[in-house]
Amino acid sequence: MTESGQKFKIFKFLKIVASSFLIAALLLFTIASIRTLSLDVNVGLQLARWEKTNNLSLVIDHHQREELLANFKEAIRIRTVSFSEKKSNTTALLQFDSLLRKVFPTVFSSSLVHHELVANYSHLFWVQGSQHDLVPYLLLAHIDVVPASEADGWEAPPFSAQEIDGFIYGRGTIDDKSPVMGILQALEYLLKKGYAPRRGFYIGLGHDEEVSGFKGALNIVRIMKQRGVQLSFVLDEGLAVLDGVISGLQGPAALIGISEKGSATVKLSVSMVPGHSSMPPRETTIGILAAAVKRLEDNPMPRLFGHGPERETFEHLAQKFGLPMKFIMSNLWLFAPLLGRILERKPDTNAFVRTTTAVTMFNAGVKVNIIPSLAEAYVNLRIHSAQSLKEVLDLIQSTVGDQRVKMELVDGFDPLPVSSADEKSFGFQIIKKTVLDMFPTVTVAPGICIGNTDSRHFKDLTNDIYRFAPIWFKPGDAQRFHGINERISKKNYEELVVFYFSLIQNCDIQKLPEPHSSVHEL
Ligand SMILES: *[C@@H]1O[C@H](CO)[C@@H](O)[C@H](O)[C@H]1NC(C)=O
Ligand SMILES: *[C@@H]1O[C@H](CO)[C@@H](O)[C@H](O)[C@H]1NC(C)=O
Ligand SMILES: *[C@@H]1O[C@H](CO)[C@@H](O)[C@H](O)[C@H]1NC(C)=O
Ligand SMILES: [Zn+2]
Repeated sequence: MTESGQKFKIFKFLKIVASSFLIAALLLFTIASIRTLSLDVNVGLQLARWEKTNNLSLVIDHHQREELLANFKEAIRIRTVSFSEKKSNTTALLQFDSLLRKVFPTVFSSSLVHHELVANYSHLFWVQGSQHDLVPYLLLAHIDVVPASEADGWEAPPFSAQEIDGFIYGRGTIDDKSPVMGILQALEYLLKKGYAPRRGFYIGLGHDEEVSGFKGALNIVRIMKQRGVQLSFVLDEGLAVLDGVISGLQGPAALIGISEKGSATVKLSVSMVPGHSSMPPRETTIGILAAAVKRLEDNPMPRLFGHGPERETFEHLAQKFGLPMKFIMSNLWLFAPLLGRILERKPDTNAFVRTTTAVTMFNAGVKVNIIPSLAEAYVNLRIHSAQSLKEVLDLIQSTVGDQRVKMELVDGFDPLPVSSADEKSFGFQIIKKTVLDMFPTVTVAPGICIGNTDSRHFKDLTNDIYRFAPIWFKPGDAQRFHGINERISKKNYEELVVFYFSLIQNCDIQKLPEPHSSVHEL
């Protein structure tokens, strides 16, 4: 074979490689474009014919407005603070109980409603349905709040429920007294209008959600299990309507939480015989532990973007982005790794990409001239849906890679199962329809909760847990949650009442309509 012949052959080979690469790229682009076009997910059900069950409408008049806002403000003024798992304000919790009985007399006297106290301060309501074959659902909320101090710089005292520019300020206005009061206010109005549900439902109000719900929610679950209850779905707090929060997204998005990250708290410790600082060993407990902690920070958990429900969020929202984001988000099968690298740059979006590692406590030493015998650190991890608690613990162990560092799991649980969000998903579609009827310009998409709620205790009673309330979040509002100046607009609180008023009636349909088919022929 001649030299020139060989050169030619190489050239030809390169040409073939190049052209097949081009063809492949073109093919990818075409598939990607078709996906971009056809992924206008879930419009099918919006066009379908729904059985009409929302016969009652709620037009809030002046008197009702005054009344529902006064009730809500009273709820905010009661300091139902959970200080720790062992310490809550029981006086306030009892006061809250009295408030509910006073302002929702019809709920507490209706023959359709069975009310019981659980663990002394939590509430469980059963609203009986006329049609027993319809599987009941549960609306969940909690009456306790995290502490708040005026000294932190609130514009209005945190338990004042003071009004400023159309907003009611106070701890619990978002988390979670607006759903608590909104749900019961809606039920009060429904019952007053003579409503009797077809589909029975429960309302659960926990009193210790902020400190894990081991008394309230867990006992509600225990009672329901004893009674053999199975639930169609659970709706709890969690995500919200995000308005201008996601950059690049056109219009607001209602994100319905379909899962929660798992969690782990790990204690790392190093111990050795104490010594005098005048004759120090080459490495101290502090040095060894600090190095271990540094290795954990230097080696974050693997990037898993696209392997959990965050993928569905992006696919649902893709249509509301301009190019090139629309193209990239519709084609996560190709671009997930790239997007993962972009998202991991900021702490708030990094949380969607991986299991996060946060070193939260580090204690060692008692005296300036003593080598401490013990150094301890606590690491708090939030586990991505595509990983298990066990995998995370194994990874920590191998990253620390030092036998002298003792590792202990303080508490932890796996990520929650992922609830359905397709066209056959009863709870998801009912919530979505209720949102769209009220706010037609909103895009509804499944989302993932970074934090945890009481609803996680209900995973044996249902396959589908949703975490959402139609609370409008604008840029900066997320910081109010557990922070200062927590507030809700009066208008938004009214919307919550209307939302639950409609949602309860919407649940009375026998079954979901068949999806409208034409959109899916692409
Ligand atoms: C709603 O009204 C329609 C028509 O009047 C009636 O057939 C249906 O049973 C009502 N639904 C409920 C849940 O009350
Ligand atoms: C507990 O609640 C009572 C009754 O609402 C209130 O008077 C008291 O100040 C609260 N205590 C704390 C520590 O918040
Ligand atoms: C409820 O209150 C009673 C009486 O104060 C107490 O003995 C009991 O332990 C409480 N139950 C729970 C679950 O807190
Ligand atoms: Zn909450």
